[in-house]
Parts: sequence; structure tokens; C-alpha cells
Amino acid sequence: MTPGSVGAALRAGAAQLTAAGVPDPGRDARLLMSAALGIEPGRLTLHGMDDLAPPAAEAFARMVGERVRFRPVAQILGRRLFWGRDFEVTGDVLDPRPETETLIALALEGAKPARILDLGTGSGALLLTLLAEWPEATGLGIDASPAALEVAARNARRLGVAARAELRPGDWCTGLAERFDLIVCNPPYIPAADLEGLDRDVREWEPRMALSPGVTGLESYRIIAAGIGACLAPGGRALFEIGADQGESVPALMREVGFENVRLHLDMGGKARSVEISR
Ligand SMILES: C[S@@+](CC[C@H](N)C(=O)[O-])C[C@H]1O[C@@H](n2cnc3c(N)ncnc32)[C@H](O)[C@@H]1O
Repeated sequence: MTPGSVGAALRAGAAQLTAAGVPDPGRDARLLMSAALGIEPGRLTLHGMDDLAPPAAEAFARMVGERVRFRPVAQILGRRLFWGRDFEVTGDVLDPRPETETLIALALEGAKPARILDLGTGSGALLLTLLAEWPEATGLGIDASPAALEVAARNARRLGVAARAELRPGDWCTGLAERFDLIVCNPPYIPAADLEGLDRDVREWEPRMALSPGVTGLESYRIIAAGIGACLAPGGRALFEIGADQGESVPALMREVGFENVRLHLDMGGKARSVEISR
């Protein structure tokens, strides 16, 4: 490995990340180096012996410096792939998780909706993916964070669905005077006491209001359950992501407010990760 080569810088960067205690230093260093070079990560090995040009070296050093402070890679790169599409990600939105793709898979198994509502849209990952998958649908994304809605609006333009996506500040279903065929929702669900046990990347860098709604972790579901009946069209479906231990509590509180058709769905690993209600 020649000094000044891509490979040498990569090893030095990975060593810095290891020293800082970053969990997967080799993978992260490769992702950051490929971004610095503007190439796909899979092509990096072809460039190990190349000289690292000063602009790429500076970009790589800056990004490693951010990762050493546990800034999530998606925030450093400013993007995340979700259901095969590229979403802008900033510190104002939850980094869309692979497990949330389960809600997309469930949604796409059902009938094509004309109108979609996404409660707590964040980056817009759920609403905008569904609008891209169903070109005739239109939808509304609600979020209490104006900064998140700005990111969602840029993502709507990036994916070419802005004309069909309305993005509006709001508090869950409050004041919604319309009914939707499909409602998707990934609310904050982490009990407050569990926040300290989260990975540093999440705890220190992701928006608190996207993570925890309060002491029990069920607070958002309770509010949404109380209001969602008025927003769900006859024959409509609502799909919720739930936390790891909420497979009994969330269906129970949906039944408490009168929903009879409540189904728990398991993810590919057999864990209860989503709840569906229909009428
Ligand atoms: C877990 S994140 C989900 C983001 C995105 N839907 C996803 O799945 O990646 C929860 C979102 O709910 C929003 N939120 C929190 N409280 C809210 C409220 N009272 N009304 C509407 N949105 C809220 C947060 O700002 C955050 O964007």
C-alpha cells in the first residue's frame, strides 16, 4: 500500500474510527471513502492503489471526523436508500430504517388506494415511496416538525411526486376533515427510560421527537387511536409500525377504541413489528 494511496487513507480512517469505538469501522470507512471519491462502494477495491487527490482526501478526513463524533453515516452522506429510492436525510428527520420497509410491503399487498395519509411523515419515506409505487394516488403527509416537512418536500421533488404529495404541519389527526383509503404511521414509540440505552448515533443525533413520545412509549398510539376512526374511509386500512415489545399493547388499545379488525403482522425475523386495522 503506497503512502498517499486510497487504500492507505482508507486504513488510516478505519483505524481512527476503531479508536473512537465506532461499531463497524471498516464498513463505514469504505462508505465514506466511496462518497469522497464519488464512486459506488462496490467499486472501491478497484481504486486501492490509486493516488488520493487532495479534494477527496479532505472530504474523507472531514467525514471521518464527523463519524468519530458518532454522526450517523446517512446524515454525513445526506442520503439513505429506502425501498430502492434515494432519500435526503438530515438531522431533522429520522433516518428511515430497513424494518420500516415492512410497512411498504404490507401496503403494497392491499388494494390500490386513491388517497393516502402518512402520520408523522418525517423524511416522507412512507408516503413518497407509496406515491412513487402507485402513480395515480395522491396523499397527505403530516408532521409536527416544520424542519422535517422541508426535508420531505425536497424528497417529494427528488422523487418526482411533489404534485401528488401535500405536506402539512399538524398534530396527528387533529383537525383532519377528510377520509383516506390507506393510512400509514410510524410514530415515536420508545419509552423515555430506554433512550439512554440507545446507540450513540441515535441518541445524540436523531430528533428526540421522532424517537420517544413519553414514559410508556404508547402515548402517540393512544392519541392516534382516538382520532383515526374519523380519517379512515369505509373499507380503508391503517398500518402502524410498533416497537419490539408492543405486540400486545398496541392491538389492545386499538380494540379499546372500538376497532374490531386488528391484525398483528410479523417481520421476516418472526418479530411483531406492525399492526393493521381495517373497517
Ligand atoms: C419515528 S419518526 C417516523 C418518520 C418516518 N415516517 C419514517 O418512518 O421514517 C416519527 C415522526 O413523527 C413526528 N411526530 C412526533 N410527534 C408528532 C405529532 N404530535 N404529530 C405529528 N407528527 C409527530 C416526528 O417529527 C417524526 O418525524
